[in-house]
Amino acid sequence: MINQFDLLIDSYLNNKIGIDANFLTDALSQGLQQNIRQLQSDNLMVAAGIGNSDVKDTQQKMRSDTIYWMDKSHDNIFEQEFLHQVDNFVERLNSTCYTGINSYEFHYAVYEEGSFYKRHKDQFKTDSDRKFSLINYLNNDWLEEDGGQLLVYQNDTVQKIQPQSQKAVFFKSDEMEHEVSRSNRTRMSITGWLKRV
Ligand code: OGA
Ligand code: MN
Repeated sequence: MINQFDLLIDSYLNNKIGIDANFLTDALSQGLQQNIRQLQSDNLMVAAGIGNSDVKDTQQKMRSDTIYWMDKSHDNIFEQEFLHQVDNFVERLNSTCYTGINSYEFHYAVYEEGSFYKRHKDQFKTDSDRKFSLINYLNNDWLEEDGGQLLVYQNDTVQKIQPQSQKAVFFKSDEMEHEVSRSNRTRMSITGWLKRV
């Protein structure tokens, strides 16, 4: 039976990079954008990679986005709806691919003009809990000249993905090297990891 998540899962299985241009409804994407604007005006978006100051300096040469972690306890309808959709996606992934995912973490991210995230993999060397990366974009009418593309490296090829509203990208965290090119306008997303802990 056709399932709403099969496009993302099948494209992942076929290409190692799953893409679904309509993973989020337009209404949910707009609601999540609204949340980010509120978080910004409440000064809650923080520089990614906060830790001791050495770590922070190193981190900020790598990436210059700001983030805010999601939590079911936030009691926000759009955040709840998003995490509910992730629950359903995990259920489908586990039942079709035997992936054994039993945890996840997601954060909002904003790349202001001039921000980037250099080439990296998402799985930490010291921690292999992160099995899959799932990125959701929240940007209406993104143009090539806006920059901020997701570049995914595979062998000798690089795939360039526009961070267009409603689109989801899904790949294995320990496998795929990727980067966010310099963004020329404010770029919003929700990035997260499906984990086996
Ligand atoms: C990340 C990341 C990519 C993107 O947050 O680890 O690589 O397109 N994000 O936002
Ligand atoms: Mn990444």
